[in-house]
Amino acid sequence: MNALDPVEVHPAWLPPAAFQALGSRRVLVRGEGLLVETVRAEVARACERHGGAVLSGYESPDLVLTLGGAHEEGFVLANQDGVTEVRAGGQPGMLYGLFHVVRLGEAAFAAGREPEVHRPATRRRMVDHWDNVDAHPVMGQVERGYSGGSLFWADGELRADRARMRSYGRLLAACGVNAIAVNNVNVHTTEAHLLTDRLGDVAAIANELRPYGIRVHLSVSFASPIVLGGLPTADPADEQVRAWWAETTRRVYETIADFGGYVVKADSEGQPGPFAYGRSHADGAKVLAEALAPHGGVVHWRAFVYNHRQDWRDRSTDRARAAYDHFSPLDGQFPENAILQVKHGPIDFQPREPVSPLLTAMPATRLAVEFQATQEYTGQQRHLCYLAPMWSEVLAFSPEVPAAELVAVANAGDDPFWTGHPLAQANLYAFGRLAWSPRMDPLAVLDEWIDLTFVPSSTSDPALLRRTLHAVMDGSWRTYERYTAPLGVGFMVRPGHHYGPDVDGYEYTPWGTYHFADRDGVGVDRTRASGTGFTGQYPPPWAQVYESREQCPDELLLFFHHVPYGHVLHDGSTVIQHIYDTHFAGAEQAAELRQRWESVAGLVAEDVYARVRDRLDEQVRSAAEWRDQINAYFFRKSGVPDAKGRRIP
Ligand code: GCU
Repeated sequence: MNALDPVEVHPAWLPPAAFQALGSRRVLVRGEGLLVETVRAEVARACERHGGAVLSGYESPDLVLTLGGAHEEGFVLANQDGVTEVRAGGQPGMLYGLFHVVRLGEAAFAAGREPEVHRPATRRRMVDHWDNVDAHPVMGQVERGYSGGSLFWADGELRADRARMRSYGRLLAACGVNAIAVNNVNVHTTEAHLLTDRLGDVAAIANELRPYGIRVHLSVSFASPIVLGGLPTADPADEQVRAWWAETTRRVYETIADFGGYVVKADSEGQPGPFAYGRSHADGAKVLAEALAPHGGVVHWRAFVYNHRQDWRDRSTDRARAAYDHFSPLDGQFPENAILQVKHGPIDFQPREPVSPLLTAMPATRLAVEFQATQEYTGQQRHLCYLAPMWSEVLAFSPEVPAAELVAVANAGDDPFWTGHPLAQANLYAFGRLAWSPRMDPLAVLDEWIDLTFVPSSTSDPALLRRTLHAVMDGSWRTYERYTAPLGVGFMVRPGHHYGPDVDGYEYTPWGTYHFADRDGVGVDRTRASGTGFTGQYPPPWAQVYESREQCPDELLLFFHHVPYGHVLHDGSTVIQHIYDTHFAGAEQAAELRQRWESVAGLVAEDVYARVRDRLDEQVRSAAEWRDQINAYFFRKSGVPDAKGRRIP
């Protein structure tokens, strides 16, 4: 099967049926420009299918889409005398207004609707693709990609068929995303050339995404002046280096006038960076930012900098501390068009981490919070794991966090369902919606996604369909958390590919991801009193809360403390009993999900039903494996039997 064949591609949250309400109306679109034309084409397509009409100006409309508000991306939706009007500040606002009308369905046309004002919380809402041009010998076409190949490249070449890229842009716009970095942050040799002699690839992608208001960004190598420019150095203080970046960037804008900017992973996991020249990361970011500034571009500078060649015997080095230690002294030194991109947790996208303290420590720096929609550590799109509840917890942590821009590592590829697991589409949709409106209730976002994707009203049992989807998805992150690494300790995964359990897989490696389980207890002492001092990176009250064993939230206990197996949690159970209980419960819940899914047979498309069922089968198998390995490991270490006498292998 050719995954690019349009008939094979799942429409995700924009199936034709979702346009029923809009498409059966008489619609007037006022204005001119590329995005207005996109809106007009969307309306025309919907009306053609559902019997409405695109008006030219004289007849009386049901819906008017027009320009004339304040905020370029915002819009006001109002209904007066039976006419619904979307008044948008600019062309992007009209596009977002259109998709809002689609989301509301019939409700958009209800008489007497109170006017609503919509505008995004931040100006950039971005997905980062970790796509490679040449399939990498270990990481493949898409690093940490669980959705088939790249939407952009195959066999070392830009895909000739670009229709799918445009469909992707349409889906992104419909959930509010307006920026995309097209290639992997680990910039290998071929990919480095996207900045210069293969810039045409980037321009072609930009052409497909532009009609949907999406600007293209590029991951670049800090060593580009050497690798591409033939200079002897990439030292940010070197005049020739600065000139090279300025001239190269000027050429980029000559080709792609609305180019968004650069993404840089420097001095991280083997990528080159300013440390080689004794310069700081602010110095490094400055060169690229200066080159981009005259053209209105930005550099996203990643804060994921740590020592990945640590000696596991060295108890003083703590990977959790690294981002804060490196970057907090640099607050105020980054230029205005540099955005420090910080992973949401201090380590690396584990199912449970505290919020990165760096996000609270950079008041004079523009920040972006990086989430991972691609579920590297949360089941790799084989397990069902709706991540929006986790992201919402991060966003609610402190006022600084929702003020930051949001970036997600993308989870889409050339898979016919876009995301491998059809229900993992919800993560991409929810990311866009939360980036637009960080305080949205993740379950309300899920409602939107369900209504758009499955159009329950068109089925024989809408209530059952909605109920079942909520039952399997609402708590799926917590279910996943239950049967994997306990109480925030993290990283008990198979090294390399990171799928499935391996409790000691990383314990004696250089990666800084340890749990320190012994016969008496488990967990990482990150206190100021006796551990690595990481708790001291938090502002009050969190510094005190995390420092204290008594106050530390149970779900993060082993992230912050090394405790005996008999330590009593807030819920009254001991750590060891909690491990047993949650692992039995988590695996059982996975089996229940699988069971529950059967009730929607006949209510969802057969191919979706079957793909989800197959993934759930794997989840049930894998969850049982997790349960047994984790329980057996801790039983053997501690010698403490399960109080409920269940079988531990
Ligand atoms: C994780 C992931 C890597 C990735 C890195 C990053 O460690 O396993 O594949 O390169 O994050 O975010 O840069």
